[in-house]
Amino acid sequence: MDLEKLLTDRLAPAFAKVADEPADPVVRRSQRADFQSDAALALARRLGRSPRAIAAEVLRHAELADLCSVVEVSGPGFLNLTVADEALAGLVSALATSPRLGVPVAASPETVVIDYSAPNVAKEMHVGHLRSTVIGDAAARLLEWLGHRVLRANHLGDWGTPFGMLIEHLVDLGEVEAAQGLSMGDLDSFYKAARAKFDAVEAFRERSRRRVVALQRGDEATLRLWRLLVQQSARHFLTVYDLLDVTLTERDFHGESSYNDVLGPVVEDLDRLGLLRESEGAACVFPPGFVGRDGAPLPLIVRKSDGGYGYPATDLAAIRHRTGTLGATRLLYMVGLPQRQHFEMVYAAAAQAGWLAPPARAEHVGFGSILGSDGRMLRSRAGESVKLVGLLEEAIARATALARERNPELDEAEAIEVGREVGIGAVKYADLSSDRHRDYVLDWERMLSLDGNTAPYLQYAYSRIRSIFRRAGVAAQPEAEILLVEPAERALAFELIGFGGVVGEVAVNLEFHHLAGYLYRLAAAFSAFYERCPVLRADPAVRESRLVLCDLTARVLRQGLYLLGIRTPERM
Ligand code: ARG
Repeated sequence: MDLEKLLTDRLAPAFAKVADEPADPVVRRSQRADFQSDAALALARRLGRSPRAIAAEVLRHAELADLCSVVEVSGPGFLNLTVADEALAGLVSALATSPRLGVPVAASPETVVIDYSAPNVAKEMHVGHLRSTVIGDAAARLLEWLGHRVLRANHLGDWGTPFGMLIEHLVDLGEVEAAQGLSMGDLDSFYKAARAKFDAVEAFRERSRRRVVALQRGDEATLRLWRLLVQQSARHFLTVYDLLDVTLTERDFHGESSYNDVLGPVVEDLDRLGLLRESEGAACVFPPGFVGRDGAPLPLIVRKSDGGYGYPATDLAAIRHRTGTLGATRLLYMVGLPQRQHFEMVYAAAAQAGWLAPPARAEHVGFGSILGSDGRMLRSRAGESVKLVGLLEEAIARATALARERNPELDEAEAIEVGREVGIGAVKYADLSSDRHRDYVLDWERMLSLDGNTAPYLQYAYSRIRSIFRRAGVAAQPEAEILLVEPAERALAFELIGFGGVVGEVAVNLEFHHLAGYLYRLAAAFSAFYERCPVLRADPAVRESRLVLCDLTARVLRQGLYLLGIRTPERM
């Protein structure tokens, strides 16, 4: 149980009594005591009384005897709360014997659709898709662990006008030849060659245009070639997911093309609802509240002037399907911040159409870019966008070299395994530990370092605890009595019981850097504890208690890292 919440629940009735109306006690961790409540200061003006007098009266009404050893009014009117050792020990014990580490399953489980990864067919996955994939996968793991029904949706870009030129290029190359090139994962050169021809050769452009028409008409021969492109790309994406160790599978692939058959009906529905207006030959929805720089209402184009449907229509169809057919109430879209407006408009239009009505809601879980060491968008030396596979392979190679160097006792197979888990972990953690709303700089030295807020640091903390047990040949007894005497032990205990609170908060705001920051603080608190408090050499009762603290720390680190999609090697 989260102590902040426990104390808040005890203080709230007392504040309500004194203030004559509900008042948030504003409890937070403090340097002076364990916790502090500042609410009396905020109430003073309104009640026309001194904050110290208010705080003192609150203390008289609050039931805190079983939780706190010291409660006092300090400074201008703060409430300082020191948690009783036995109360803290009781909370740690409850955690130690809880298979879910004190984290309850959701009281009302929901069906959640997580739209993530979503690379485009016949294009290499690049670092831009990395963030979506890593954040989306963490969300899927977290919400699933909390008991929600999670539906992963990989909204692949597998339809649209570029397929005209891509198919014609495939024809030019010869199917076998092309399939071979594509299966090597060389999607980018294929796309670029097609593009170059399209830009330079009028006859090719003409063929491409005719091909798009054939594709949209459902011409079987054309569809077969299109499927070939989709399959080769899908195979490539699956290798990346495997390398990246994410939970997405082929069953989660729901490309844009899967909505083709319902785009017509969706637009008809919008028309029937009176939501369509024609603008420059295109059928548009004008969701309220969106205006351009010139103050004119912004259109969401659902049918282009050439009769084709585009990205917005597909997203509207997807919402209708997700809420209507799949019964989802929470729709999450892990997509870069530049698409913010697109999603806001799509959600607004879907709400107008009645496809997104409470309790169902949609959230754009946006994120910034990955930058190179020069502070600009990450690019390869040739100035192109960096391929994801290359980046992941580099991470693994670097981490494997470091694993060999750091621990010569690892045999070759272990070094390779550790290198993979640490390398991939480092890439994911660098992403998840930074505030997703911001850009971040990809810095190999930093992300692979054993010091600081990094995956290797946390993985190492975990493996170090496991080695304590392994070397001594002992196990922790979760039922053992917990004795908290040293300040470093208390500090560790406070971190441990904070897990549930952080998990609950991140399930709402999907800001995984809070979970990462928590795990980092936990590992640091463990390290301070382990430096100051002997474990195996302590007296039997203390030793048993400390073994539980060690084991609990390892379990929380492991579960927390699992939720971030990061493995925890037993040895490294
Ligand atoms: N394929 C798109 C891109 O690469 C992302 C799709 C995101 N999902 C969605 N439902 N629109 O930009």
